[in-house]
Amino acid sequence: MNMARQTIVLADPAAVAEAAARRLLACVSDVPVAAVCLTGGSSPKLLYELLAAAPWRGRIPWSRVHWFLGDERAVPADDPLSNGRMARDAFLDRCAPPGNIHMISPATAPGDAARAYQTLLEEFGRRQRPGLPLFDLVLLGIGPDGHVASLFPGGAGLAERARWVVEVDRAPIAPFVPRISLTLPCLANTREMLFLATGEAKRDIMRRIFAGENLPATHAHAEHGDTVWLLDAAADPGKAS
Ligand code: 6PG
Repeated sequence: MNMARQTIVLADPAAVAEAAARRLLACVSDVPVAAVCLTGGSSPKLLYELLAAAPWRGRIPWSRVHWFLGDERAVPADDPLSNGRMARDAFLDRCAPPGNIHMISPATAPGDAARAYQTLLEEFGRRQRPGLPLFDLVLLGIGPDGHVASLFPGGAGLAERARWVVEVDRAPIAPFVPRISLTLPCLANTREMLFLATGEAKRDIMRRIFAGENLPATHAHAEHGDTVWLLDAAADPGKAS
């Protein structure tokens, strides 16, 4: 695994979203069936909205790209807190063929939902991506405590090495609902991992991650390509490495 990270600092959230769209397009352009793992939270919203509008909407090869989710909150699918709903509302429902949208179903108990999503990922990988990493691109945000997806510091699932998807009974930060999360080995099964962090509120946690503190985000790396951090100037701790 390439443990080096590439850091790119841009002026503002709009520039970060634009750069992320460019990288996404590059990642999905050279494979017959592409797979992108989306992130929840507020950081990717600008990117998602950008993808749904001209000119990006016309550039993405929608019929060839499959969309997955890195983590979900155990709330009904139409709840405003649902990560899947956010992604669907922001762009998926308007742009992607329904058969290419693979969100985590919160309809069952979190443990069952985690097992079902792992089966879905395994089958997709086996059938659609033989000989390739599971994902072309994994998008991630960063929590104020250094969590990624729903893998929290010291929490359930962080040390998981065998399972691809786990249930997380307790989230230490809001929303305080159980979660379903891809694990670090599953997130690592990608050709590119792309973190998005914007705004001054992220600066302190960015400083801690870049200092190598033992946090979930510090251990998240792409196994088959680059790990890239896209920051805006406000989130840049000034010690990017
Ligand atoms: C979630 C997430 C989570 C998120 C970070 C950053 O369900 O909460 O997927 O990992 O990406 O907490 O969230 P913001 O982008 O809102 O700061």
